[in-house]
Amino acid sequence: MNKPNMEVTLGDVKLKNPIVTASGTFGFGREYGEFYDLSELGAICVKGLTLSPRQGNPPPRIAETPAGALNSVGLQNPGADAFILRELPWLRGHAVKVIANISGNTAEEYGVLAEKLSDAGVDMIEVNISCPNVKAGGLAFGTSPDSAALVTRTVRRHSRVPVMVKLSPNVTDITEIARAAAGEGADALSLINTLLGMRIDIRSRRPILKNNMGGLSGPAVFPVALRMVWQVKNAANLPILGMGGVASGEDAAEMMLAGASAVAVGTVCFSDPCAPLRIRRELEEYLHNEGVDSVSKLTGAVKPW
Ligand SMILES: Cc1cc2nc3c(=O)[nH]c(=O)nc-3n(C[C@H](O)[C@H](O)[C@H](O)COP(=O)(O)O)c2cc1C
Repeated sequence: MNKPNMEVTLGDVKLKNPIVTASGTFGFGREYGEFYDLSELGAICVKGLTLSPRQGNPPPRIAETPAGALNSVGLQNPGADAFILRELPWLRGHAVKVIANISGNTAEEYGVLAEKLSDAGVDMIEVNISCPNVKAGGLAFGTSPDSAALVTRTVRRHSRVPVMVKLSPNVTDITEIARAAAGEGADALSLINTLLGMRIDIRSRRPILKNNMGGLSGPAVFPVALRMVWQVKNAANLPILGMGGVASGEDAAEMMLAGASAVAVGTVCFSDPCAPLRIRRELEEYLHNEGVDSVSKLTGAVKPW
């Protein structure tokens, strides 16, 4: 059999293969670019961008856990303008799609970010709704269908490129939020963001993270992520970028069978910087062994009992 066709489409954006980097785990690609050619990837999703530069939370802000990591980095980034000036032109020098991940304190801020970044020439906007809504007492946008709808509507109105809404798993029913985003014109959904967690140093009796709590990611969250991708695919028929603990080509195949059109790779990059390319190769091997000629045929092909 010939090499399988690895092309996929994510909300009208054509990717040469389904492997994307997860926001916040790949910076702006410069460090990883020293290990391999970034144009080998399907897309790069950059670190979460805000209107103003942010220092993030005080350290310690990473804690190891069995099969994963807890982080409370707190959206450290140079701000959207600095990204557009210094990082985007460099990224554009590679034949790879660029997804800008955005975070705001208010729906209006999300709108301004979407306009700036889509005008600047990114290929897609990923809307991180796991951020506190300052005007609604600090409750995360992604935890209520109404505020998720408000942000999606605002971003959709201001963006000239496809909009992907990134769902938070820290909710009772993720399908409600997915439907709210779909109802306001989201072109795609991505999930999952990190699961809220905590660790304590039993000698000092202090939480390990200075922020007390943090987001859990890595292989520990994979089955939860997979379950949510499957539920969301059945609830809102939009293309999905599936993520959460993907560490091998077999995990990527599982994510796609559950309903993902493409797969983001995050925490595993910290222990294996070349993981995205390894995962792509392993996925190709799986397709070859299964006699599947096109990776997109995996999407949603699970046969539930
Ligand atoms: C250190 C770190 C920083 C992250 N920063 C962001 C961010 O800025 N915006 C965002 O939407 N998600 C962020 N995430 C979440 C990831 O993009 C991803 O949704 C999550 O880690 C699950 O995937 P994984 O288990 O493969 O890492 C971050 C995750 C980690 C570990």
